[in-house]
Amino acid sequence: MTDGDGQLEARLTEQEVFEPPEAFTAGANVSDPDIYEKFEEEWPACWESAADLLEWESTYDQVLDDSNPPFYEWFTDGKLNASANCLDRHLDERGDEVAIEWIGEPVEEANRSFTYAELHREVNEFAAALRELGVGEDDIVTMYMPMIPELPIAMLACARIGAPHSVVFAGFSAEALATRMNAADSEYLITCDGYYRRGDPLDHLDKANEGLAGVEHDTSTVVVDRLSDNGDDFGHELTDDQYDYADLVEDHAGAEVDPVTRDAEDMLFLMYTSGTTGQPKGVKHTTGGYLSWATWTAHAVLDVKPEDTYFCAADIGWITGHSYIVYGPLTLGTTTMMYEGTPDYPDRDRLWSIIDEYDATQLYTAPTAIRAFMKWGSSFPENHDLSSLRLLGTVGEPINPRAWKWYYTHIGNEECPIVDTWWQTETGGMMVTTLPAIKDMKPGAAGPPLPGVDVQIVDALGEEVEAGQAGYLTVQKPWPGMLRTLYRNDERYIQEYWAEYSDTESDDPEDWVYFPEDGAKIDEDGYITVLGRVDDVINVSGHRLGTMEIESAIVGVEGVAEAAVVGGDHDLKGEAVYAYVITEDGYDGDEGLRERIIAGVEEAIGPIARPEQVVFTPDLPKTRSGKIMRRLLENIADGDELGNTSTLRNPEIVEDIQRQVQG
Ligand code: WTA
Repeated sequence: MTDGDGQLEARLTEQEVFEPPEAFTAGANVSDPDIYEKFEEEWPACWESAADLLEWESTYDQVLDDSNPPFYEWFTDGKLNASANCLDRHLDERGDEVAIEWIGEPVEEANRSFTYAELHREVNEFAAALRELGVGEDDIVTMYMPMIPELPIAMLACARIGAPHSVVFAGFSAEALATRMNAADSEYLITCDGYYRRGDPLDHLDKANEGLAGVEHDTSTVVVDRLSDNGDDFGHELTDDQYDYADLVEDHAGAEVDPVTRDAEDMLFLMYTSGTTGQPKGVKHTTGGYLSWATWTAHAVLDVKPEDTYFCAADIGWITGHSYIVYGPLTLGTTTMMYEGTPDYPDRDRLWSIIDEYDATQLYTAPTAIRAFMKWGSSFPENHDLSSLRLLGTVGEPINPRAWKWYYTHIGNEECPIVDTWWQTETGGMMVTTLPAIKDMKPGAAGPPLPGVDVQIVDALGEEVEAGQAGYLTVQKPWPGMLRTLYRNDERYIQEYWAEYSDTESDDPEDWVYFPEDGAKIDEDGYITVLGRVDDVINVSGHRLGTMEIESAIVGVEGVAEAAVVGGDHDLKGEAVYAYVITEDGYDGDEGLRERIIAGVEEAIGPIARPEQVVFTPDLPKTRSGKIMRRLLENIADGDELGNTSTLRNPEIVEDIQRQVQG
């Protein structure tokens, strides 16, 4: 288990407690402390209160069907449509209020807002167009798009016609796109010509086309024109099976598409995420359970209200953006902001200037961003009026107390609660965090499990550990937002998430325990400190990457014989990729190899997986049985003491590697 950088110990000894700021508590959505007890007593019926935040076409018969664990079903036989929940239900009362406030990266860009009525119109028009292209119910539509409004529009258009979406992060490579389209047999792609990064146009269609070349079946593609209105163009010509987004929408001007009636358990979307093997996992989320989870947690934890201007600075290409830019906030009828660019362009105050200008009421972002803000200094936020903010949130990785306090003081002015939210792609939404008006905050600890969420920290045998002991985080009861399976791979679903602590022969739900592959500690007050992944997944700037995926990209480079990839501590990114590489004979001292390895990783996965350091070595430290000692490689990357290495088959290699890493 990775215990990080020793920061954890410091974190636990200097434990401080902050009460919910009074300025916040008075008007909070959830403020009755009895909710914890009540939800425990009334479980699983307590989750009706989540379902009640949605509009159902016909109500469900049963809250939870647990007759076939771990294939749980929630709100069975309930009927609803996610797009109708995000749009149609708000038209009467909030049709002219802003649903999406979009801020483009170039500062001179004409920002775009969509009222609920406008968003509804465009979603309908695009839904009609998708139908005409042949998209039917249950066809999986892939989206490979940056943070432009057409991405949530496309997601909602698909939801409207009952076609699950699979969004691939725009920073992923062509190869990653092809892998995901092939795995889902997806015949439709929605993408764009390009987008802006630090003021420069970036060609995206080129990458999409390269990905499409690797897709095994016929496809139709819709291309959004993001650049040419600004006079930037890479001169792409659309092929016969590619359609211009604006043309399609125009051709269907005024079209109305009735939202397709979906069963609560029908798939709303797939999201591919990194796991222990090289093959990404297709996490399946459903319409009723997922949507009620995203909505209830946005309501209870982020305290989203219709009159808010709520800002989540994540990317919709990841689960955080799905749940907390698109589905949760829109179901609640609020104004959700979307920012295309990076926080330091044109200057390091960009987020603060956006919050100031739009009077944003919440900010939800990742610790890696907060550490960067802290490094840049408090003069950037100080030049702006941030007093509109009511609540701050973090997600994606542990936040160290120093960054927490900086956020609390310099961004929240000690008047905003901070919710440190632990969850994952698979959980659909938040699981462990404080309810902001009820619970004290302890910097560094995410908090207690949410009401109705049964988390235990256990040892290797599944027994609960004592307060203060490190153990494994487990979820002992199902919850509505949980993944239902891995796409077309029930067996892997059981193996990856349940087998560790469950009696897989049993059909008693009590015998089934969900294991998210995180290590954690719990204190006397039931506050959980998450210690990080215990599998071969590393967390770079809050993004999940499988070491196996990176290794297989590296061994695919000519001249590489073997590679081991681990995560090493990194001040800003949380973790960074360290690659230890054995070259093939004849490639010793090949100057270009390092660059080719980096390029190989970027090509296979994307720039986020770029190794921080590539270390060439004649051998890797191995146990006598031949297993690579990854833990040791991690310690070397972190510059930690190594302890006894004499049980290795090849202890002499260790110093050699150490010298290179430090050199
Ligand atoms: C980590 C992102 C500590 C954890 C929503 C989890 C966290 C993985 C926190 C999921 C947090 C997420 N504190 N660690 N508040 N939130 N993690 O699927 O290791 O991209 O398993 O979902 O991020 O990453 P994913």
